[in-house]
Amino acid sequence: MKIIIEKNYEEMSRTAAMLFAAEIMEHETTTLGLATGSTPIGFYRELVKLYRQGKLDFSGVSTFNLDEYVGLSPEHEQSYHYFMKEQLFEHVNIRPENIHVPEGTLDLKQDAGAIYEEQIRSAGKIRIQLLGLGENGHIGFNEPADEFTKTTGKILLTNSTIEANKRFFECREDVPKEAVSMGIGTIMRAEKIVLLVNGKKKAKILKEVTEGAVTARVPGSILQFHPNVIVIADEEAGEYLTGV
Ligand code: F6R
Repeated sequence: MKIIIEKNYEEMSRTAAMLFAAEIMEHETTTLGLATGSTPIGFYRELVKLYRQGKLDFSGVSTFNLDEYVGLSPEHEQSYHYFMKEQLFEHVNIRPENIHVPEGTLDLKQDAGAIYEEQIRSAGKIRIQLLGLGENGHIGFNEPADEFTKTTGKILLTNSTIEANKRFFECREDVPKEAVSMGIGTIMRAEKIVLLVNGKKKAKILKEVTEGAVTARVPGSILQFHPNVIVIADEEAGEYLTGV
């Protein structure tokens, strides 16, 4: 794993955006894996800035988001469909047909996970995947478990994730209890992975993820086995890391 520690959130966001911008500039068409949550808001701001400066063209870009809450429609303000529209998609020239976010509202007869895996397969490969890190070590919504998840599917959210994400909802009861998420296997098939981590609250788990045992109890630790991972953290999150 390559680890970059930046002074603050803004520098972390800028460095990550430059990596994705380079990918977009170098290839006429490319496929990006994207994340939601608080962490990448500055990253999306930087990408939109580069687009407005005329430095980026999203017309050849396809995107696949990591996850979506089960039960929230794309119009729901806390859905990840909505988040992506607000933070990135409505500000750049990406083609709507190139945008992919798992469906949280398919009826039970349809397997949202299998549909998503097929869409990723037909796009070829995710060239660069953005990840944030849950306080419990999750990546995507792959929660600590006995085994690593292989493919995209439904996941029961843990209490700690519901607790961490309730800040976005009016009350804890409003937080969906399930999500559809790319599996760990899906994430590990990306060519390159960028893990963004900021803030004191993530310092301990970031050390476990990068230096601890590789275990499904700390899902992000599997990234130690990926050949092309760049961790970009701010100084607070990187506090306990050695050998940077
Ligand atoms: C979001 C996602 C999650 C978040 C993680 C950190 O698409 O997949 O793994 O990256 O929960 O969330 P924040 O950035 O809000 O701390």
